[in-house]
Amino acid sequence: MSVKQDLKLPDASRILVVGLGLIGGSLAAALRAAGVGREDGTVILACDPNVDEIRLGVEMGLIDTGSTRLADVVEGATLVVLAVPVLAMRSVMGELAGLISQLAPDAVITDVGSTKAAVRDIAVEAFGGLPPRLVLGHPIAGSEKSGVAASDARLYQNHKVILTPCANTAEDARQCVETLWRLTGADVLSMDVERHDQVLARTSHLPHLLAFSLVDTLARQDERMDIFRYAAGGFRDFTRIAGSDPVMWRDVFTANREAVLDALDDFEVGLKRLRQAVAQGDGDGMLATFDRARHARHYFESLLNKTSYQAEYQMQEPNSLRYLVAPGGSVSGRIRVPGDKSISHRSIMLGALSEGVTEVTGFLEGEDSLATLQAFREMGVAIEGPHQGRVVIHGVGMHGLKPPAGPLYVGNAGTAMRLFAGLLAGQAFDTELTGDTSLARRPMGRVADPLREMGAVVETTEGGRPPLKIKGGQSLKGIDYDMPMASAQVKSCLLLAGMYADGETRVREPAPTRDHTERMLNGFGYRVEREGDTCWLRGGGRLSAAPIDVPSDISSATFFLVAAAITPGSDLVLEHVGINPTRIGVINILQAMGADLQLHNQREVGGEPVADLHIRYAPLKGIEIPTDQVPLAIDEFPALFIAAANAEGITRLRGAEELRVKESDRLQSMADGMTILGIDNTLLDDGIDIVGKGGEAPNYGGGRVQSHEDHRIAMAFTIAGLRASAPIEVDDCSNVATSFPSFVDLARRVGLSLDEVREEAV
Ligand code: S3P
Repeated sequence: MSVKQDLKLPDASRILVVGLGLIGGSLAAALRAAGVGREDGTVILACDPNVDEIRLGVEMGLIDTGSTRLADVVEGATLVVLAVPVLAMRSVMGELAGLISQLAPDAVITDVGSTKAAVRDIAVEAFGGLPPRLVLGHPIAGSEKSGVAASDARLYQNHKVILTPCANTAEDARQCVETLWRLTGADVLSMDVERHDQVLARTSHLPHLLAFSLVDTLARQDERMDIFRYAAGGFRDFTRIAGSDPVMWRDVFTANREAVLDALDDFEVGLKRLRQAVAQGDGDGMLATFDRARHARHYFESLLNKTSYQAEYQMQEPNSLRYLVAPGGSVSGRIRVPGDKSISHRSIMLGALSEGVTEVTGFLEGEDSLATLQAFREMGVAIEGPHQGRVVIHGVGMHGLKPPAGPLYVGNAGTAMRLFAGLLAGQAFDTELTGDTSLARRPMGRVADPLREMGAVVETTEGGRPPLKIKGGQSLKGIDYDMPMASAQVKSCLLLAGMYADGETRVREPAPTRDHTERMLNGFGYRVEREGDTCWLRGGGRLSAAPIDVPSDISSATFFLVAAAITPGSDLVLEHVGINPTRIGVINILQAMGADLQLHNQREVGGEPVADLHIRYAPLKGIEIPTDQVPLAIDEFPALFIAAANAEGITRLRGAEELRVKESDRLQSMADGMTILGIDNTLLDDGIDIVGKGGEAPNYGGGRVQSHEDHRIAMAFTIAGLRASAPIEVDDCSNVATSFPSFVDLARRVGLSLDEVREEAV
């Protein structure tokens, strides 16, 4: 209501609605509901060939008067709304052109046609050029009902109206039409004519065509239409729009032929693919399409409701997914695990802030990186995909992000929250970052404190926990920061904030941590320097889009490396795995334990080294894990503990207190689970001793262990099943989807015997 109060058409306007059907009638009704006419002396008139519609419009109080002839009502009109079907536009505009001198001197003309190029061309013909006071528009609202009797004052409320002004359109005329629609409660946005027609062909015209066609096909097959007696909700939902006005739709398809045909071609390709999947009984193919569609539909819903996609998704999903792992077996084959999580997050972030279009291949379609992707969509970045790991990001530049409608929900993703904290600290608008229950427990003071030193305003809850409230519009200054812990997330957060800061931001790390941010920034043309343990950049630079090929995630590959390393008879190749020197602790540690692990086909893709990893079973021995390897294998310890449990002798880990603040307290979670399985271990504050039996007999028993909703704990205990003497059940495995959505499929493919049990959450 308050929005409407400051909206006003000029006093004593004469609004002429040409075509008093559902759209024109609802506009009049909405204007009446907004008080137009009563106090300010505005008159609403209508012209319609059907005299009954005019009579009804007057009776319903929507219009003051009307006529079947345009000449009777144009005199002095200040605003003319052409609400006729697109193909009727030619004769209406032709007639209006002949009467143009009778309109008020600065009269504004607009239309509601569902296609815009055709209407523009008709206008050029009718008026001998595009009148500067003609503002083409399209309210995206409607109903399968037609006629003025179906008018609804709320039809446009919270719906979009797209205006497609042309180069010569007068700004005050555009503003007048914007005011008109905002008075009805609509959101008004602008787009160029061609884009409008492409977008509408896909989102509106194609679905109408399909609905008409489906109903007609069924009706023809069943002359007496008996079949409709049995049609229930699915049919009703899908075909409601087949009840729409045929004349209007004939006009739309005639006027927007090319764009509709393009959309139909794309649809036919998709349909053919699905047909083939059904014909071949290709369950995976069907699932892939349905899953993607379901997520997309869900995303659409969240846009409508202006809530977070992930938050809604979580509310719907039952959390209780249990893995049941049968003991024994071995692993073999050749597989490619999904894309690297760290690099996937960064590809979206830097792509979004770049100038130009970034194409990402190998993107991880896991919940964590999807949360990052979604957050940028909520800040106005157009992102296509993901589709089979391909994402196309239309960068908005360093200062092009828009304020999101609500808090940004990043689910389980610590990387997203910490890196976002840095880049959002540099924006002009306020933001709030929230996450799931696991993320809500994780320390954010490690980023909030140095950001505050840079001049950022960041609020956390008690003990530096999420949510994070970040105040925009601050001027940041570069700092020289000595990190108290070896954390790539903290380093990356500060570098991202540093891009928005005055002067240099320098970060010293106590031990080397993953350097994907530095590599990618350099790849995008933003210079990051390094000398010894310190890296730095200077604020105020720009990013230019560059293609990114995301290698497979060594952290996901680890589960299969360990599976093969501990299981007699195993022989496995993992293709295209990222072997960035700051990530290869797991390779060094496994080799030190005696694993038969070789790197083949080493090469570099987009600034990151990759290789195929070939691993065969070999007896392992317990070792003291060198502390310099800890940050380089920080995410791999849950799986490495299972390697240790199968090695001969004691494996000792120290200096790994960071494991206590991961998605769960990983030292505690692993110790608890290992104790249940009968694996001897001693827990310390910063590490653990694990006693392995070695040999080829089963090394421990089975049992039911908790993952503590931590994806890597869940996957570690799953592979432990290969050397257990009895089944292992792992509770709460749904978070595996955060980093490795295809884990179960790949695990089965290489030889694990694994079932999933889903239980409704209570
Ligand atoms: C990550 C850094 C590491 C790692 C996490 C991903 C990153 O966290 O554990 O899974 O992408 O920068 P820390 O920075 O907390 O060590």
